[in-house]
Amino acid sequence: MAQSILFTEINQLMTLRGAVKKQGRHIDEKDLGIIKNGAMVMVNGEIVWVGPQKKLPQIYANFKKKSLKGKNVFPGFVDCHTHMVFAGNRVDEFELRNKGVSYQEIAKRGGGILSTVKATRKASLEELTELCQRRVNHHISQGVTTIEIKSGYGLKSSAEIKMLKAAQKIKKANIVTSFLGAHAIPKEFKSEKLYIDQLIKDLDKIKSSKLSNRVDIFIEKGYFSYKYAKKYLLAAKEKGFQICVHADQLSHAKATQLAVEVGALSADHAICLTNRDKKNLAGSETTAVLLPCADFYLNCDYPDARGLIDRGARVALATDFNPGSSPTQNLPFLGVLSRLNMKMSLAEVFVGLTLNGAYALGLHKTKGALLSGYSGDFFVSDHQWKEFFYDMNPSFIDQVFISGRAQ
Ligand code: NIG
Ligand code: FE
Repeated sequence: MAQSILFTEINQLMTLRGAVKKQGRHIDEKDLGIIKNGAMVMVNGEIVWVGPQKKLPQIYANFKKKSLKGKNVFPGFVDCHTHMVFAGNRVDEFELRNKGVSYQEIAKRGGGILSTVKATRKASLEELTELCQRRVNHHISQGVTTIEIKSGYGLKSSAEIKMLKAAQKIKKANIVTSFLGAHAIPKEFKSEKLYIDQLIKDLDKIKSSKLSNRVDIFIEKGYFSYKYAKKYLLAAKEKGFQICVHADQLSHAKATQLAVEVGALSADHAICLTNRDKKNLAGSETTAVLLPCADFYLNCDYPDARGLIDRGARVALATDFNPGSSPTQNLPFLGVLSRLNMKMSLAEVFVGLTLNGAYALGLHKTKGALLSGYSGDFFVSDHQWKEFFYDMNPSFIDQVFISGRAQ
């Protein structure tokens, strides 16, 4: 039998109607589509009607009611870039970095990503799943309803598959997995070429396992070059994978250019860009995913969010949660950093954390907004929209609903 529910007595209901119309670009306050004294109807976890309560169509009036008691409703956050499956931590590296040793230097000494690889290879599927589920639960408690999770700390197919399996076992949140075998070159391989050739073979295993239909790569000096990344991404595309890229984070590696060339869903980090890169991104369907928590932790430049947004690029925000460059799940911190250090408006931050995150995952038709046809993923708060991302107190979420169900 169909599960129908009518949510009533909503003070402010953020639909993002205008943002959807504008496909996440050139956002201003009006695009948030705030409804005063709203109501929302769901059937089988999907929104079928949303609007002012006094305009509720008669056919829904007898549906089972749930009053939200004058609180405010927002689309669930979409965290479109995380590395949430990992074992161990990198506390020693943090101390080293504070003594002036760079992220790249630590990697050269065999630390960094490769140290998390060591810990993650050792952990069992059950351990990784449990660690990840705990982190996901914490994300949900902050209003996140959809999470992208990358592999990339296995760097050999059995360990990469173990990571993806852990991500696939996650309950409650909507999970999207990405295969990041191309995160670093493992010690077992003598050259980038040999590892890329191996990865191209591994893509078939990933495809047939149905553990992920997305491929990511870290294009950066000392990691993967434009030349081999292009070979790899074109092979992935041909096999039907969606593509996202760790692009131009620490240096200009022509990665954003490549992301646009191959039609990637997203170019992530996007810090060391030329004006041409920004223009190309703006003229493309590739979403720029900005990760300011990593920039904070690496103490590096922030991306030129204004330059991207004002040129018409679609900009999403994500935590990049990982044990090395962004060991935080703090959504209020992410929002505050975006406003303070990247000069994004509050409306741009909301859209960046919802609809535009969904765009980066190719889910913008069903996630990231509260309109008819979208999933019933939302959170309830005492805060009105203008009161968000000002303090960093994480306790502003009262209740979270995923597919219309209270979590
Ligand atoms: O997005 N840049 C590459 N990958 C991650 C860092 C991963 C790590 O340091 O473990 C990032 O910042
Ligand atoms: Fe990342």
